Amino acid sequence: MRNLLVTGGAGFIGSNLTLELQRQFPGARIVVVDDFRSGDFKNLRGFRGDVVAADVSRLDWGRQFGDRSFDAIFHEASITDTTVHDQGLQVHDNVEGFRRLVEFASGTQTPVVYASSAATYGIGSGVQTEDQEPAPANVYAFSKVQLDNLARMHAQRSPAWRIVGLRYFNVYGPNEIHKKAAASMIFQLYRQMKSGQRPRVFRSGEHRRDFVFVRDVVALTVRAATAPHSGVFNCGSGHPISFNEVIGVLNRNLGTSLEPEYIDNPYADFYQPHTEADMSRASKELGFVPQWKPAEGIAEYVNFLENR
Ligand SMILES: NC(=O)c1ccc[n+]([C@@H]2O[C@H](COP(=O)([O-])OP(=O)(O)OC[C@H]3O[C@@H](n4cnc5c(N)ncnc54)[C@H](O)[C@@H]3O)[C@@H](O)[C@H]2O)c1
Repeated sequence: MRNLLVTGGAGFIGSNLTLELQRQFPGARIVVVDDFRSGDFKNLRGFRGDVVAADVSRLDWGRQFGDRSFDAIFHEASITDTTVHDQGLQVHDNVEGFRRLVEFASGTQTPVVYASSAATYGIGSGVQTEDQEPAPANVYAFSKVQLDNLARMHAQRSPAWRIVGLRYFNVYGPNEIHKKAAASMIFQLYRQMKSGQRPRVFRSGEHRRDFVFVRDVVALTVRAATAPHSGVFNCGSGHPISFNEVIGVLNRNLGTSLEPEYIDNPYADFYQPHTEADMSRASKELGFVPQWKPAEGIAEYVNFLENR
């Protein structure tokens, strides 16, 4: 892979991906496209490639890149704050950005890997499999369902082209601090405990989440660029863990013994008790098995945060 493009490369997952691509393909020319609305230049420390500061939903892709061809395009750019309720803005920027990108890539049939989301599954609970009917509960999730629909239509039209969606579950790891309130619960709980506060979780801390370490997310994203065919794949750890258990792991790694403080859940009616990625399709079709179980990934992350 010698010519690569990453949208949203200044963000959490995008920057981890960009720096890993640079490490794995040291001779590659890598272009990041990001308008920095929620990213942070600090995430790209050490990046030696080109940064195009532009909104993907307004960029004239053909004019910007001419006839330059890429070996793969990774699409991470998106409004990621799920509390942005401006429907026109969410759908415009997320969907039209993807449409422009896909139309640009279709000319050369450049492989595209894009970030979908477990949010497409909605508030149903239990093991989530890719063939489940989408049930978006907010406009962010709705916009991701539209990405999956667009990708499927293009893939049906051009079976030889590879366009792969990854439904990321709850991602945690380095370079997420800029996301503030939208950063992972692992980071929120770490920060509270680090400052000596009791970690606050919704009563009774037994909700389970499929938290996935960003290193596994990056590994699957890179692997998806050489997928044998188009499709949508879950990207989780496959090992859900409760908030109480997360607090236990954090206590062990921080050398603390802080008890959770349980608070009432204002979203109790539509709060998922349990999310869990069925990872069998990624394993069967892409040969990918997540390497980081939650306890190990959280320990590695705490180690990173403590030595920052
Ligand atoms: N972090 C998670 O747990 C998670 C879960 C599911 C899906 N995702 C998806 O993964 C992708 C990356 O998310 P993240 O957690 O790194 O978030 P992030 O906010 O850190 O990164 C998003 C990046 O995209 C950029 N961006 C947003 N809209 C843009 C636009 N129109 N044009 C150009 N740049 C734009 C932002 O400036 C930012 O740098 C997103 O598509 C997100 O929806 C993330």
